Amino acid sequence: MAAPLRDPDAWLPPHVRAVVERPTPIVTFAGRAGAAATADPSFVRSDIGQIIGVEPAAEVLYGPPVGLADVREAVAELYRRSLGGSDELQGANVCMTTGACEGLSLLLRCFAHGRKVALPRGHWENYDNAVDLAGGEVVVVDIFDEAGTLDLEALERQLVDAGAEVVLLNFPCNPTGAVLSTAEAEGLGAMLRRLDVLAIADEVYANLRYDGVPPRSLIVEAPEHVVSVGSGSKQFLLPGARVGWVVCAQPRVTDVILRKVLRGSTASPNVLGQRRLLDVLGPDLEAMAGDREPPTLTRVIHAMTERRDALLEVLGRHGMVSKAARPPEGTIFLMATVPPWFEGDDAAFAERALTAGLFSCVPGSAFGLPGQVRLSYGALSPETIAVLDDKITALKSA
Ligand SMILES: Cc1ncc(COP(=O)(O)O)c(C=O)c1O
Repeated sequence: MAAPLRDPDAWLPPHVRAVVERPTPIVTFAGRAGAAATADPSFVRSDIGQIIGVEPAAEVLYGPPVGLADVREAVAELYRRSLGGSDELQGANVCMTTGACEGLSLLLRCFAHGRKVALPRGHWENYDNAVDLAGGEVVVVDIFDEAGTLDLEALERQLVDAGAEVVLLNFPCNPTGAVLSTAEAEGLGAMLRRLDVLAIADEVYANLRYDGVPPRSLIVEAPEHVVSVGSGSKQFLLPGARVGWVVCAQPRVTDVILRKVLRGSTASPNVLGQRRLLDVLGPDLEAMAGDREPPTLTRVIHAMTERRDALLEVLGRHGMVSKAARPPEGTIFLMATVPPWFEGDDAAFAERALTAGLFSCVPGSAFGLPGQVRLSYGALSPETIAVLDDKITALKSA
């Protein structure tokens, strides 16, 4: 076996390889015509499939298939400055996408078709949809044992026994908020290299880490085995802008394979979303370059830490703090235990809270974690968390 990303084309199913190898005459002519027009302003371009020059102020033109050059560079810089990325990561290693969802979906179409894809127990339930749509087969594995320890030997055994060739990892994790220590991430990287398993690392919460350990992308540990997916939705406050990215040490993936596959999917990522991302990310990168605190990330991390702590305090008062050995040290989510005073399971708890008009949460069974409910503090101000305290008290008598 060989490292999956050394020759990523060899991993593509035949129908995806056909798309990657098919010529794109419109794009090719447009590129050549653009160069000709730059060299000679009298050159007439009649290859353009857009309406230009009728309402110039209102026009939002197509962008390049894998994203605007300055935005790709900015994302590469984010990985270099804040996620341990090597100096070799440049714009060509980045493919902008319509949210992380599109990045995940395209990568799964490329690498999961006809393969077993391992999903951790306690995963974002949308992964099942993406794997099914890509023609992969889900197998669920336990990343942590009951004590919350990352048991690499047990994980390796499960991957081998299941015949999994791809694993989808998500740290910091939705729904549990779990993060990996540096040693655990190194161990995981070594395991991927030993098994030649490809990891798709969903790192949309990469910078939202509250334990003081500097965040690090998993691509650092195993650049020939890990593709990272990220997003402006969470850490840069732009979920509606639908702007995400794929980062890979092997530019063949981001600059060639995804260029073709993305064009066949959405043609090009959202230009307005990318511009909005740069508005937020630009000042943060500038601050990092000057050894100052990034303004947006710092504010977000501060607010989320405060909200998480306040929520845990409230949950503690109601006997709902999860017994899970891994504390919620990242994301905007945590799992809470269905309290002993409630008669019923997690689905009944979530249902009663909602139908009594008190508060909402998501049953843990939706993530393969029965007996718990997922709470998000992303949208809860400290005042609202205080109100939640009263609502949980009211549920006791509802
Ligand atoms: C783990 C995880 N991955 C991906 C996404 C989707 O990200 P985006 O909005 O960038 O598509 C979410 C959104 O909730 C998520 O929790």
